Amino acid sequence: MPKTDQPTIIAIVSQKGGSGKTTLAVNLATRAAQASQESCVIDTDPQATAAAWGDWRGDFLPVVVTAPPARLTRTIESAKKNGVEFIVIDTPPHADAAAREAIKAADIVLIPTKPRAFDLAALEPIADLVSFAKTPAFVVLNAVPTGATVLANEARKTAEGMGLSICPVELGDRAAFHRSSAKGETAAEIDPSGKAAQEVDALWKWLNKVLKKAQK
Ligand SMILES: Nc1ncnc2c1ncn2[C@@H]1O[C@H](COP(=O)(O)OP(=O)(O)OP(=O)(O)O)[C@@H](O)[C@H]1O
Ligand SMILES: [Mg+2]
Repeated sequence: MPKTDQPTIIAIVSQKGGSGKTTLAVNLATRAAQASQESCVIDTDPQATAAAWGDWRGDFLPVVVTAPPARLTRTIESAKKNGVEFIVIDTPPHADAAAREAIKAADIVLIPTKPRAFDLAALEPIADLVSFAKTPAFVVLNAVPTGATVLANEARKTAEGMGLSICPVELGDRAAFHRSSAKGETAAEIDPSGKAAQEVDALWKWLNKVLKKAQK
């Protein structure tokens, strides 16, 4: 990712609880830190799950700060002043003010979604929000069971039918994601050569490519 004065801002949103927003946020922000980016997670979820992860983690990057949606812009400004280069905004479930503010502030929106009918149906309000805001947005299929090719293909078709783009990298159902989170770590930190680590790495590289194209 090029070093510029403007940080890269990623919003992670999804209407559905437990779709993997916080997991994606902390794994991506930590991957950015591993690439020597000053990275930060802004947790706008009153449940403060990312913030709890940050507390367990201690003094290692990424920094995790909490901010109610009404304070998001100010919090981003203060992160900029502190030299933060990569910001991931974690949001609560529901397509409400928090999701709207995060989408407005972001360069790109990631929408983690399990490839299940109810989860896919819940994409509709988010699809409306991102199309209104015109921020580039991608569905990231998450916790895809091993070998579930048909399920994943159907999920992609459903999301595309709502006018959403699909991230070509998907995350499998991997124990390393939940095992690591409970310790304030990431999948790549507890199992650097594991599949979860490879997927996050592929996602990071894809993100760089897309952002370079999107950036002037
Ligand atoms: N790819 C994955 N493989 C296995 N477990 C996962 C994966 N992604 C997330 N999980 C687990 O699923 C649970 C929910 O994930 P997470 O907290 O990231 O979701 P969320 O969208 O942030 O939830 P909420 O809407 O409540 O904030 C956690 O226990 C997490 O460890
Ligand atoms: Mg969460």
